[in-house]
Amino acid sequence: MQITELFDIEVPIVQAPMAGVQGSALALAVSNAGGLGSLPCAMLDPAGLHNELTAISRGTSRPFNVNFFCHQQPVADPSREAAWQQLLAPWYAEFDIDPAAITAATAREPFSPALLEVLAEFRPAVVSFHFGLPDEALLRPIRTWGTRIVSSATTVAEARWLESRGVDAIIAQGLEAGGHRGHFLDDDITTQMGTLALVRRMVDAVRVPVIAAGGIADSAGVSAALALGAAGVQVGTAFLLCPEATTSILHRTALTGPDASHTALTNLFTGRPARGIVNRAMRELGYLNAAAPAFPLAGAAIAPLRVTAERRGSADFTPLWAGQNTAGCRPVPAAELLRSLAPTALQSRAQ
Ligand SMILES: Cc1cc2nc3c(=O)[nH]c(=O)nc-3n(C[C@H](O)[C@H](O)[C@H](O)COP(=O)(O)O)c2cc1C
Repeated sequence: MQITELFDIEVPIVQAPMAGVQGSALALAVSNAGGLGSLPCAMLDPAGLHNELTAISRGTSRPFNVNFFCHQQPVADPSREAAWQQLLAPWYAEFDIDPAAITAATAREPFSPALLEVLAEFRPAVVSFHFGLPDEALLRPIRTWGTRIVSSATTVAEARWLESRGVDAIIAQGLEAGGHRGHFLDDDITTQMGTLALVRRMVDAVRVPVIAAGGIADSAGVSAALALGAAGVQVGTAFLLCPEATTSILHRTALTGPDASHTALTNLFTGRPARGIVNRAMRELGYLNAAAPAFPLAGAAIAPLRVTAERRGSADFTPLWAGQNTAGCRPVPAAELLRSLAPTALQSRAQ
């Protein structure tokens, strides 16, 4: 089944949820244009979620997707924190930062009963998860609303795991994709493959619709994913320059300059591998540093360096999440971008 039918949308494109760089405005623009807009909720508390869902519900009667992280919250390990801060000491000294003043990391909360309670008021058409699935007790109510449940898989084994738990569709997240890897069964990143190979193998392995994600940035790429058997695509990076996104000026500048051709997986900013544009922090600390505390705790110690550098107009310590393929990034309204991404035969259906 194609996702146009599954989600009741016009064009088979999901705008990827992208925490930190977008809110309801981008989701609304895409849903109103005939795609599936997504609201990322990893950094929203229940009140924030309520505000954003109210804005979307007022702005559209079309289907939209609400996305949550569902990681296990780690127990803070003071000795690991101390070792991490010790490693960062030369940069603290350079920026004149007192490590004693460091506060908790930017919250990245997993899906919870409190968030479910807010969601129940709105009953969105689609809910997607990153890092597996939450407990069945949290999923059961969502199923009763008729909401479609989707999650990312980065390997065939993860796709089979999700299928056995009754998801309605699976996002095949290829290695090219921007932002956090959605892996959840195995954190060995040597298991990760590119979108082309992953989609093909997943389509063969599971019966539920597979949505291709990672490096898709134009209409030909969308058509190629569909030809491989994907039921639709999820596109993130290409939307980062749209005026409806909240992407910072520093991030936009990096996306449009020569640095954008250099991306890598890094765990420095959160503790989990995520793809972003290579910057000074990544070059000097190593992209993947074994000392980084568990997700999402690593971010607390880097945050003061980021804040101080950004005040000086530098993105040296800023996570610049982006996929390998930034060729599709254009500063045009999201509806126009969506139209240009649609397979030629469907372009007239995107409004
Ligand atoms: C800036 C950015 C933030 C992201 N944040 C999230 C998120 O909050 N939730 C999620 O499920 N995926 C997130 N992703 C991953 C996307 O869902 C998707 O896998 C990816 O964007 C697809 O690859 P592409 O960026 O090459 O289009 C993010 C990606 C980017 C680029």
